[in-house]
Amino acid sequence: MYNTLLSNMETKYSVAEVCRDNGTCHPLDPDLQKIMAESRDYDELLFAWKGWRDSAGKVLRQDYKRYVELANKAATLNGHSDNGAFWRSLYETPTFEEDLETLWKELEPLYQNVHAYVRRALYKKYGSKHINLKGPIPAHLLGNMWAQTWSGIMDLAMPYPHATQVDATPAMVAQGWNATRMFQESDRFFTSLGLLPMPKEFWEKSMLEKPSDGRQVVCHASAWDFYNRKDFRIKQCTVVTMDDLITVHHEMGHVQYFLQYKDQPVSFRDGANPGFHEAIGDVLALSVSTPKHLQSIGLLDKVETNHESDINFLMSMALDKIAFLPFGYLMDQWRWKVFDGRIPSTEYNKEWWNLRMKYQGLCPPVTRTEDDFDPGAKFHIPANVPYVRYFVSFIIQFQFHKALCDAAKHVGPLHTCDIYKSKEAGKLMGDVMKLGFSKPWPEAMTMITGQPKMSAQPLMQYFQPLIQWLEAENNKNKDIRGWPDYDWKPSTSKNTAVVAQINREIQNSDAKKQLSVKRK
Ligand SMILES: *[C@@H]1O[C@H](CO)[C@@H](O)[C@H](O)[C@H]1NC(C)=O
Ligand SMILES: *[C@@H]1O[C@H](CO)[C@@H](O)[C@H](O)[C@H]1NC(C)=O
Ligand SMILES: [Zn+2]
Repeated sequence: MYNTLLSNMETKYSVAEVCRDNGTCHPLDPDLQKIMAESRDYDELLFAWKGWRDSAGKVLRQDYKRYVELANKAATLNGHSDNGAFWRSLYETPTFEEDLETLWKELEPLYQNVHAYVRRALYKKYGSKHINLKGPIPAHLLGNMWAQTWSGIMDLAMPYPHATQVDATPAMVAQGWNATRMFQESDRFFTSLGLLPMPKEFWEKSMLEKPSDGRQVVCHASAWDFYNRKDFRIKQCTVVTMDDLITVHHEMGHVQYFLQYKDQPVSFRDGANPGFHEAIGDVLALSVSTPKHLQSIGLLDKVETNHESDINFLMSMALDKIAFLPFGYLMDQWRWKVFDGRIPSTEYNKEWWNLRMKYQGLCPPVTRTEDDFDPGAKFHIPANVPYVRYFVSFIIQFQFHKALCDAAKHVGPLHTCDIYKSKEAGKLMGDVMKLGFSKPWPEAMTMITGQPKMSAQPLMQYFQPLIQWLEAENNKNKDIRGWPDYDWKPSTSKNTAVVAQINREIQNSDAKKQLSVKRK
């Protein structure tokens, strides 16, 4: 019953489409994602944003309510007070919630500076009718369906248009890169660190592109451990973009972890904590994203080393890494409250938007009601994947990056470090991955960083030049941080749910066995 319900929710999400009046229908991958990233037409963006929620969110509301009851029942049978408590228990940290809040409070001023800067950039583009410089930002203008990362609107937020640009997508397309090439490039980076190459089975059995025969598949990128010590795969509808090149490294990080701990007993074949599993590939991607590295693999031709180019680069990173933090935090704030009853099923959507406002400073572009179910329009809600792991990952990946850069004897600012070819850095990572879940995570943290705690300091150090720049820029414009006009609203101007047979090799809702993972 529980498994059927979960599988039905994921299917409904995966087959959702948004149709135009003329009959053309758009799936999320790649059509709607592309519109959200590339369109600069307010109404077109609204069409995609609202359409997706009408199509993928609403239909899940009743299922989700039932799912919450069943998940809680299972959790209490296993001795937890509710399913949220069960999820948090995976971190084995009694002060987990307080620790996260402390980290968020340290990072909030930086987020608010990015928010204020981007809000002004959007104001220049869309005007005062749609953007209030003292209010929240309409949630459909940030280059992503959930406004979880904002790198899609880098063109609008570029600090110095005449200095080095950092988007490798045009070069990848011009050079005819394909999905295989992107995975080969990632494999090359891992092996350069002395880590393990992907096995033959991986290359033979993974699905790296969306099938061209029209078969319906779950496109949300995921990495799979079949627990037979041979079979590891990735499923991804890869698009040739810089963004997806980062996702490729992210997924390859999961498979590298699977490979490293494959000889542990089954119950230890997992990350030191769920955030560790999410962080490995991202750590490599921090090196890959540096202009110097992109140039070394032929994806950027002009690379200047000056302050303006540095700020452009750090802004592109901030639109990904800083913009994500409040979203990564609030997804499970919402679910923890749903599971323990602080959010009743009659207020699912209202409380969702309260959190979106409180943490992200976003408002819905059109009125929402309790007929809507906007949390359901985000993959990890119907797919039952806990989310705070990504918040944890976005913090600790900078701790790992700093430690690995020290091991690689990097000199210079942290954001310029590229650990490519450093066997010392690779060994630190490999040793920790081999442990799997067999040791408490603070021990694994100590092996890499020399101390046992999560810390926001390495992230702050990485972004230090941008922090100063943003502070000065926002002061110059007299931009307030935050959104005191939280009541303000922007003025504003059918779907074929073909339940397709979805290829589910593993029909097992246990997150442990089905390490189906990924993307924020
Ligand atoms: C429907 O409209 C969209 C967007 O305007 C257009 O791209 C598409 O080609 C149209 N489809 C048909 C069948 O006319
Ligand atoms: C993809 O790129 C790789 C490496 O550049 C090449 O060997 C392969 O033939 C390409 N595959 C397709 C389907 O074009
Ligand atoms: Zn992942």
